[in-house]
Amino acid sequence: MKILLLGSGGREHALAWKMKQSKALSQLFIAPGNAGTASLGVNVPVDPNDFAAVKAVVLKNAVDMVVVGPEEPLVRGIFDYFANDDALKNIPLVGPSKKGAMLEGSKDFAKQFMAKHSIPTARYKSFTRDSIANGFAFLESLAPPYVLKADGLAAGKGVLILDSLSEAKTQLEEMLNGMFGESSRTVVVEEFLSGVELSVFALSDGKSYKILPEAKDYKRIGEGDTGLNTGGMGSVSPVPFATPEFMEKVRTRIVEPTIRGLQAEGIIYKGFIFFGLISVGGEPLVIEYNVRMGDPETESVMLRLDADLVDLFDGVAKGNLSERSCRHSPQAAASVVCVSGGYPGSYKKGAAVSGLEDVRECIAFHAGTRANGEKVETAGGRVLALSSLADSLPQALEKSYAAAAKVEYDGKYLRRDIGKDVLP
Ligand code: AMP
Ligand code: GLY
Repeated sequence: MKILLLGSGGREHALAWKMKQSKALSQLFIAPGNAGTASLGVNVPVDPNDFAAVKAVVLKNAVDMVVVGPEEPLVRGIFDYFANDDALKNIPLVGPSKKGAMLEGSKDFAKQFMAKHSIPTARYKSFTRDSIANGFAFLESLAPPYVLKADGLAAGKGVLILDSLSEAKTQLEEMLNGMFGESSRTVVVEEFLSGVELSVFALSDGKSYKILPEAKDYKRIGEGDTGLNTGGMGSVSPVPFATPEFMEKVRTRIVEPTIRGLQAEGIIYKGFIFFGLISVGGEPLVIEYNVRMGDPETESVMLRLDADLVDLFDGVAKGNLSERSCRHSPQAAASVVCVSGGYPGSYKKGAAVSGLEDVRECIAFHAGTRANGEKVETAGGRVLALSSLADSLPQALEKSYAAAAKVEYDGKYLRRDIGKDVLP
């Protein structure tokens, strides 16, 4: 099978690495990919949001299946573009329909969906400029801190958590006045939940699903979870507090009702669902849905996925996922992300990366790199995700940190406390 994978981050390198192990894969294309994916397949310089260009790659190379990494093409409707095109409609695409992708593309839609299907989540109300007075009144009815969420995609920056009521009111007004452009014309205001977060992933063929290994990611730039939000500074899997009992609650209260709810509403969903969860006193609630895998969670999850990923995708395409085998390795995985100095603010690109050949017992998934002749150089904020599998989490972390020490580039920064909070 020839597969085209869309995206260019650490998630895509990890997905490509896992697919490459399948005998069913004959050739892999990645659009646009990075210096890491180039060692596993053919990088094609195409923007995943340019559907006509994606179509041209698919037809020119007789691609049999497309796998979508990031959310943006999904939210823009790449699934529907394929389904409605005579030349593409028989080529399966792993990812939800445009309607399904609204679970990530519209927080208001996601909250309404959860309310309708009795899926546990924070209490909320949505507001527009016309209903701002009601928004202020709703804020007054809540206890601090206050959570404001732009309805649409906002590059991970659309959630504000504010301590004071007056600040919350000011920010609500600014959001409704276009702080995040069209994305914040509607704002979800919700109750603050206090607990520990984790990421749970499922792959669905629209009828059945497989739960993948769960993970925890580390979003803040600074140690001890301080400073600005990033795309993710590291991840671990498994998550010690996600006991079998807890995961059974997740399955019965959250995953099952989500899949059944999508089906009941006639929403086509053949792809990954990412449940951003919080455990409040041992009870799971949904913080958010994403319609893709997490990054850098994927870099840990793929290491623990004991399955043929291409076979799972084939099950999604054929609608018989329930017949495919999907196990979780009992080992532990840890991924440590090296970023460019200054990230998530401005940072420089084009620094030469050295030491990759000295990385042992660890996989250096590339997140933001590009090839410059024979050399690898930085091309993004998150540069490498050093990812290891071992018998225990401390051992996996040790391997990833040892590898991170081998890699050098100007401005390298990493957090030293990945996984520390979940170790006994
Ligand atoms: P989101 O983009 O919805 O994932 O929100 C970003 C981050 O804000 C989450 O990962 C949480 O850490 C935090 N957050 C979002 N909603 C809530 C909430 N209702 N209570 C507490 N923290 C929240
Ligand atoms: N690591 C969180 C995300 O991918 O959204």
